[in-house]
Amino acid sequence: MIVTTKQLFAHAYGKYALGAYNINNLEQVMGLFRGCIDSRAPFIIQLSKGARSYTDKRMLEAMIRAAEEIFPEAVFAVHLDHGDEQTCYECIESGFYSSVMIDASHDPFDENIAITRRVVEAAHARGVSVEAELGMLGGVEEDIAVDEKNAMLTDPDEAKVFVERSGCDSLACAIGTSHGAYKFSGSQGLHFDRIKAIQAQLPGFPLVMHGSSSVPQDEVKRINESGGKLKEGAKGVDPNQYLPASKLGVCKVNIDTDGRLVWTRVHREYFLQKPEDFDLRGPGKVFMGEYAKFIASRNELLGSAGQLDSVRETVTQK
Ligand code: G3H
Ligand code: 13P
Ligand code: ZN
Repeated sequence: MIVTTKQLFAHAYGKYALGAYNINNLEQVMGLFRGCIDSRAPFIIQLSKGARSYTDKRMLEAMIRAAEEIFPEAVFAVHLDHGDEQTCYECIESGFYSSVMIDASHDPFDENIAITRRVVEAAHARGVSVEAELGMLGGVEEDIAVDEKNAMLTDPDEAKVFVERSGCDSLACAIGTSHGAYKFSGSQGLHFDRIKAIQAQLPGFPLVMHGSSSVPQDEVKRINESGGKLKEGAKGVDPNQYLPASKLGVCKVNIDTDGRLVWTRVHREYFLQKPEDFDLRGPGKVFMGEYAKFIASRNELLGSAGQLDSVRETVTQK
């Protein structure tokens, strides 16, 4: 059942965080739903601009609608990840999305507010909620590279003004994470003091954490042992920090890279071990099972595992 993101946040706030997982193809969709049902977790399925243009955006909607029928117990929201203004309007108009993210974080503060405000007006008129972003994550976001050292953490006072003036429903904050497989080189981690300070300015307001993959080192090692050339030693977010962050108002934790690592490891190992094989369904089957296990393990760490029956009592179909 597709529900509103708002309802999911209301249930989670201060207790646990929802996993927000990016999907691009059918194997990811099947693994994601399986993993969430196995761990009895509500979740957010997110579609990036890249995912929408990978094949055809109608394919994504068709896959998700089919999964909804295959897994009738599932409770989830559909979210546009890192949208620009135009894509937000398209998704709002489509009637399919529970929420959109307008990412104008690279624009100056007032411009970010003005763009977000326009999207909020269009979205709220259609019952869609809006995630905005303030501050700059390290790593690569869309096509803009921001050096890790220059990554700007979200300013708590600015966050309060931003939310008041833009009317957004949740806020992606820069709190020490960055996108991709190469996040922290040294002893960096989540900036809990900063999250606390933002929550103090915005009590009860849902915060979002992007760049939350943990980049498991054994996964990177297995990829490289089977022919990959990923940089070793770069760390991701410690997944044991998801739950403490959720207690401070982080309701949505975005995970994409880790799923790509599972995909890469499965396919590299599969074809290395079976060089004579050319049936795509072989690795596809292994991936769906492995991805489901990965998702369930993340839901356990997020605290969303086991919440499915309780959340169902509080939500209605979007
Ligand atoms: O933060 C971005 C997400 O990982 C989506 O990546 O734009 O390559 O689909 P993508
Ligand atoms: P990762 O690259 O850490 O998986 O972050 C994904 C993300 O923030 C999607 O918006
Ligand atoms: Zn992101």
